[in-house]
Amino acid sequence: MTPPVTIRPFHSVASDRSAIAAIDAVFFASSNTKVFADEAARAAFRERWLGRYLQHVPASCFVALDQAGRAVGYICGSLQDPALDPLFADQPHLQLFAHVTPSYPAQLHINLAEEARGRGIGRELIEAFASHAAAAGAPGIHAVSSRGARNLRFYAASGFAEIASAAIGDKELVFLGRKLG
Ligand SMILES: CC(C)(COP(=O)(O)OP(=O)(O)OC[C@H]1O[C@@H](n2cnc3c(N)ncnc32)[C@H](O)[C@@H]1OP(=O)(O)O)[C@@H](O)C(=O)NCCC(=O)NCCS
Repeated sequence: MTPPVTIRPFHSVASDRSAIAAIDAVFFASSNTKVFADEAARAAFRERWLGRYLQHVPASCFVALDQAGRAVGYICGSLQDPALDPLFADQPHLQLFAHVTPSYPAQLHINLAEEARGRGIGRELIEAFASHAAAAGAPGIHAVSSRGARNLRFYAASGFAEIASAAIGDKELVFLGRKLG
């Protein structure tokens, strides 16, 4: 049997440098973008998809810790409608979904270390985030993925439905929403 993990609020590890390094490692290993022009580009990429959540909305972030206390996954997000939130003003693609974000304002980003996948940990992280968002009164949560992505089945199995989609360049973004309450 694989050893269990525990889901903890991010603030329980926020001052632990090794935990932040482990979260960063999961983020970069899970990301499709692997090559960066320079260190500044790499840092900007991290800030856009991970850092701003940990810094500005840490209460909406959770980590999965293995038995040694090592972070093997995380979910981070925010509760405010991102199409209206100045924190995301640099992401014009969010306006493509401004007609549906009022019903599903809480956004999430989730990643697991490869060895931690397929064990139900992703579902546990989703439930931690959903409970947190529901307790704060959010009517729904959402994630944005792309057409054909492997994770679409994970979201379907975790209670999300496709609410909208939009073309951006040669990609099709898929807005996945789950009602709360
Ligand atoms: C997507 C991800 C977070 C899922 O977490 P996980 O812990 O592996 O998923 P779980 O074990 O909790 O699975 C929950 C359900 O989703 C299904 N599922 C999970 N990953 C799947 C996949 N890649 N393809 C198809 N189904 C999947 C499981 O079969 C399970 O369904 P079931 O309960 O009906 O059997 C994780 O695999 C991951 O980090 N992947 C790479 C990065 C990524 O895609 N992040 C999301 C970016 S939008």
